[in-house]
Amino acid sequence: MADLYDDLYRILKPRRTQAEDILQRLGFESTACGLSIHSEGEWIRGGAETFVRMFALKAGEEIRQFIMKACTPFSPALPIDKVLTKWFSRRELLSSSGCVVPHVYGIGDGVWIEDFIPHRLGDVIEQLWAPGLREDLATFADALQRHRFDAISPFSDLRSDGRRAVIIDFGEDLGDPNCLAVAPDYKTPLINWLRRFRVDWDSFPAISLDPLFDRG
Ligand SMILES: Nc1ncnc2c1ncn2[C@@H]1O[C@H](COP(=O)(O)OP(=O)(O)OP(=O)(O)O)[C@@H](O)[C@H]1O
Ligand SMILES: [Mg+2]
Repeated sequence: MADLYDDLYRILKPRRTQAEDILQRLGFESTACGLSIHSEGEWIRGGAETFVRMFALKAGEEIRQFIMKACTPFSPALPIDKVLTKWFSRRELLSSSGCVVPHVYGIGDGVWIEDFIPHRLGDVIEQLWAPGLREDLATFADALQRHRFDAISPFSDLRSDGRRAVIIDFGEDLGDPNCLAVAPDYKTPLINWLRRFRVDWDSFPAISLDPLFDRG
């Protein structure tokens, strides 16, 4: 297994006292405590297009979880840097449309580090329905619709920290923006997906669906 520190140095490219710089780049509050590895997983296949490696770092009492992701696309026709450019432009477009995406701390050679989002959204909403989740889902469906993404099952990959719904997969299943002539309907798939968790959209009157879906 490649040493985690090797990967951290390769991706974060620390300059000054290395541990301090790594902590700073990863957003730790205290950078003077010394860095240790709290836990580390191996590289495993994340899905059709990625390898992933979970890890947690510790500085003093602060422990934070991260994930390293490597782009391993199935289309040999496109070089990895071009595939990554597509993934990150989809991420940027959705983020600038108000969707929640994990923070990226560094990227190098097709591998990047982002926040580890602990739960599958489906697991969270079966137990607890936080108000922010509903708004995030509406924002996501609205963005897919307005930018005419040709997405396959866009809601099934979402993750959550219990408060927000976070998009983590910007691969080919998301499709490309502006590739459909007519704005597709993502409201019906969202409502159907929620029904699998016995969540009825209309039973949450705090946010009106229509203004979000009907604008633009
Ligand atoms: N930021 C993250 N936080 C937590 N887990 C993550 C994160 N990013 C990816 N994962 C985990 O890694 C898996 C694969 O990630 P992702 O969906 O981006 O890759 P993929 O290869 O496109 O997968 P798929 O073939 O299922 O679409 C996710 O299902 C999830 O379990
Ligand atoms: Mg995918």
